[in-house]
Amino acid sequence: MSVQSESKRLTAADLRARKGGEPIVMLTSYHAHTAALADRYCDSILVGDSLGNVMHGFETTVPVTLEMMILQGRAVMRGSKRALVVVDMPFGSYEASKEQAFHAAARILKETHCGAVKLEGGERMAETIAFLSQRGVPVMAHIGLTPQAINVLGSFRAQGRDEADWPRLEADARAVADAGAFSVVVEAVAEPLARRITVSIAIPTIGIGASAACDGQVLVMEDMLGLSPKAPKFVKRYGNLGPSIEAAIQDYAAEVRSRAFPGPEHVYGMKPKPKA
Ligand code: KIV
Repeated sequence: MSVQSESKRLTAADLRARKGGEPIVMLTSYHAHTAALADRYCDSILVGDSLGNVMHGFETTVPVTLEMMILQGRAVMRGSKRALVVVDMPFGSYEASKEQAFHAAARILKETHCGAVKLEGGERMAETIAFLSQRGVPVMAHIGLTPQAINVLGSFRAQGRDEADWPRLEADARAVADAGAFSVVVEAVAEPLARRITVSIAIPTIGIGASAACDGQVLVMEDMLGLSPKAPKFVKRYGNLGPSIEAAIQDYAAEVRSRAFPGPEHVYGMKPKPKA
C-alpha cells in the first residue's frame, strides 16, 4: 500500500462506505510516534485495550481503566492526522447499562477527540450500540473471541470451529449491524464462518484471525513487529524488532561501561570566550 496522501481525517462514515470495496487497513497504536508511522499507511488506528498486555504487562485486558485508554488515545490523536482513531472501551466502563456506556463513550470522544469507540459483545450489547449510535457515538463492535470475557471463557480459543456455534455467532454479527455499529471486528473466528458473516451483513467486517475475505484486517502492532514475546497463530510477523532492540541495548550498556559513549560528538564544549 502506498503512503496515504489526503490530509483530511477519515470518519466512521468513510469506513462504513468501504463495505465490499478496497480492504480497510487497521493497526493498533498507543503512542504518538508509532501512530505517526501507522497514519501514513493505515485507514484506521485502534487504541486497543491490548495496551494492558503490551504496555503494562497484564495477563488480560480486564484491569485496563478508562483513564489509561483516554491517556493513550490522546497521544495517538496527537501523532496522527489522517487515520480514523478508534478507542476501545475498557472492561467495566460500558456493560452495566446503556447510560453508563454513554457517559464513558462521551468522555472518550470529548477528552481524546477520536472518531469512534469500540466495545466487545454481540447480541447482548445491541441495545447499547443502538443507544450510543443514536446519540452521536460511532461504534465499532467486536465479536467472536472477546478477550474481556476471559474470566467466563476460561481461555483464548478460536470461535465457530464447531458448526453448532455458527447460529449464535451469526446472530451476534446481525445484531450489531442492525443496532447501528459502523463496522465490526471479527476476532479468531473460523475462516468459513468469517467469510459467511462478511457477505451476509451490511457493515464492514475487520478480521483478526478470521478471513482474507473480511472487508479489512487489524493486528496488534507489537505482535506484527516481532516485539511481543509470544503472539497468537493468526499473527504474521512483518518485522523482528525484539532482537534488534536487544542488540542495541546490549551495545549501549557495553559502551557506557567502557566509557566509549558518550563520544566527543555527543557532549557540549564551552562557548568560546569573547575576545578582550
Ligand atoms: O485491543 C485490541 O488491540 C483489539 C484488537 C485485538 C482487535 O481489540
